[in-house]
Amino acid sequence: MSIEANNEKKEFKPLIVAFCCNWCSYAGADLAGSSRLAYPADVKIIRVPCSCRVNPLFILRAFQKGADGVIMCGCHPGDCHYSTGNYYARRRMTLLFSMLDYLGVENGRTRVEWVSAAEGVKFSQTMNEFVEKIHSLGENVRLEDLRCKKN
Ligand code: FES
Repeated sequence: MSIEANNEKKEFKPLIVAFCCNWCSYAGADLAGSSRLAYPADVKIIRVPCSCRVNPLFILRAFQKGADGVIMCGCHPGDCHYSTGNYYARRRMTLLFSMLDYLGVENGRTRVEWVSAAEGVKFSQTMNEFVEKIHSLGENVRLEDLRCKKN
């Protein structure tokens, strides 16, 4: 059996980046953890002060570095710790995601979700659904920067 055939049989382990705002979603992730609600280890959480701190370039960079999916979680509209941060984030992400779709990164690979500090169950369910979706889409080959690829 050739090496290539061997590599093809490897199980797909997606890399998923989740940007979570400190005040709600990260606390929701924490609650999910302390409530022993499972979500896949494929999700790598990056804590940000607010969803509006997520520069669209962070998401492009995540895809460049080999992410298969990127999700941004923040406080529910109206509940942002900084009043209007998530409104700005929502608008930015809407534009970015449509641009990514145009570039060939399917809509399913990006998602915005509002998760409060009391919604550990929602956090866990959202991550499980998102990981399942990424599994169905398979590996992301768009935007990947080969210089970032590990051999
Ligand atoms: S602090 Fe959570 S979205 Fe702004």
